[in-house]
Parts: sequence; structure tokens; C-alpha cells
Amino acid sequence: MPKVAVIGAGTMGHGIAELFAIAGYEVALVDVAEDYLKRALQNVEWSLKKLAEKGQIKEDPSVVLSRVKPIVNDVCKAVEGAELMVEAVVEDIEVKRRVFAEADRCAPPEAILATNTSSLPITEISEAVRPERRSKVVGMHFFNPPVLMPLVEVIKGAYTSDETVKKIVEYASKLGKQTVIVNKDVPGFIVNRILARVNDAACWMVARKEATVQEVDSALMYKAGLPMGAFILLDYTGIDVACFIGDAMSKRGFKTHPCPLIVEKCQQKKFGVKTGEGFYKYPAPGKFQWP
Ligand code: 3HC
Repeated sequence: MPKVAVIGAGTMGHGIAELFAIAGYEVALVDVAEDYLKRALQNVEWSLKKLAEKGQIKEDPSVVLSRVKPIVNDVCKAVEGAELMVEAVVEDIEVKRRVFAEADRCAPPEAILATNTSSLPITEISEAVRPERRSKVVGMHFFNPPVLMPLVEVIKGAYTSDETVKKIVEYASKLGKQTVIVNKDVPGFIVNRILARVNDAACWMVARKEATVQEVDSALMYKAGLPMGAFILLDYTGIDVACFIGDAMSKRGFKTHPCPLIVEKCQQKKFGVKTGEGFYKYPAPGKFQWP
């Protein structure tokens, strides 16, 4: 069975692992603690059952789930024999670079090392691996929830080869995803760069008391036709993630005007669904329910 390694079992990581398992890969899923992996596998199981109920997967969910092998804190073991690694750890350049350096040491020479970073430059991450591997480092950016969102951005860093981009497009297609190739490794790539502006505009309107959170979200959902309003989406993807992205992008020259309401939520650790409160409240932290 072909093998991939997914590093980081959080919101994005477990969804990415699930997609590869559905596509028939053995998936080594790594996180730093057993508890995180246990929760990740429970989430994958829940999601697989949902997909099975709707006839969207043909195999029994337990068979798909058995292809996901949890590994505690051992990137080296996970990438052994893997043809692809997708890294989905926290948005911290140093943590990501450590994962890439370790994966480079242990993965087969032909393996591709991809990052699901939301905003950090692929080129900076590539420089953590030996020069001979850099052409195989690439961005493979999924959207939350990875299982349902149809798009994958494929981002080329300064060293990424066309062959690597082509292979990632093929992997994405096996997962049933559409791809957009991002040829310029610019802060936020395409989607997050635009979303950052939308979130800022929405947040400043509320900060200046020009509209309420509910009014902005209603206008975006019921008039502009978006599936989620800006504030619900911030809660859904995590306000902490928005703060990481804003920070990473502004450090790299993308001018932002940090909106005080978002900054405050981050300081208060009110990150949205995951903590039970963000711009809205969620009675069961970690479980999304429409407010
Ligand atoms: N796996 C399987 N099923 C799932 C699921 C998952 N992970 N998540 C939700 N579902 C199911 C729900 O349980 C529900 O099932 P039901 O019909 O049996 O009740 C069904 O999908 C529909 O869900 P909801 O009723 O909650 O509501 P929606 O119809 O609105 O669908 C949504 C949910 C697909 C998340 C939709 O609201 C949506 O598209 N929202 C926008 C998401 C988005 O824009 N994501 C990108 C964010 S940016 C990003 O990720 C970048 C990163 O770098 C930060």
C-alpha cells in the first residue's frame, strides 16, 4: 500500500489524513501527544461515518480508519518509506523548519515534502532541508474542513520544480480536489491574502460601530451568498489562526491594519469553536453548531 505521512493531527491534519486514507493510502499521522491523536482519530471516525451515511465513500468507515496509523512525536518513523509528507503543524516557522529538517533526514530521497502552511513562505521552509531536496518542497494548502472544501492551492517556492508541482496536482486530483497553482510565493498566497482583507473590513465595521457582527454575517450569507459570514468563519477556522496569519503576513511586508476586536479575542484566548467562544458562543467546545 502506498504510504504518506501527515505531521500534525489538528483540525487540518486529521482532515488531510482522512482524505488520503479514503484514497487508499496508508497514513502515518503524527502529533506530540497521545491524547491529540486519540481525539483526531475520533474526529476522522465521525466524519467517515457522515460520509458513509450519505453514500460519499464506498468502503466501510472502519476499514478506511484502519489505514490511519497514529504515531506519537516521531517524524522520522512516520516518513520512513513514505512517498509524500504533508506537514500541518502550528503556524510557527521554526517548528515547521524542524519538522522539515527531520523529514529530510529520514524520508526516501524521492519523497516530496509538502507544507499545508496558511501563510508562511515555502522558500523559507525549503531552506531547512538539504539543497538536493529543495526542489521537492512545495505548498499543498487545504481549506477547512479539508474533507469538504474542494480547493487545494499548490504553491511554488523559489526551489520547487515543475515536476513536484505536477505530482502534487496529481495527488490532489486523487483526493477529488481542484487545484490552483500559485506561482508566486507571496504572503497569504491567493485565498488567505484576500480573506485577510475581507476579515479586516468586516471587523473594522464592527469596531467603528457601523454594523454589528450579526448584520455583517447576515449580509455576507444572505445577500453576498457566502456559505459562512466573516465572523462565523473566523470562529470556525480559529481566531488564533487568523492572528498567526496576520502576523506572518505583516512581518513579510503585507500591510495590515490589525483590527482591535480580533487582537482582543486572541489575547483573551477566545479562539472560536475550539474554545467554545469567539464572536459567537458554542455550547460544546470543539463542535461547530450554527449560532
Ligand atoms: N466531514 C464530514 N461531514 C461534515 C464535516 C466533515 N468534516 N463537517 C461538516 N459535515 C457535515 C455536517 O455534519 C452536516 O451533515 P448533515 O447534513 O448530516 O447534518 C453537513 O456536513 C452540512 O454541514 P452544516 O449543516 O454544518 O452546514 P453547511 O451546509 O453550511 O456546511 C460547511 C458546512 C461545508 C463548513 C460550509 O458552511 C462552508 O463551506 N463554510 C465555509 C468554509 C470555508 O470557507 N472554509 C475555508 C476557510 S479558510 C481556510 O481554511 C484557510 C486556512 O489556511 C485557514
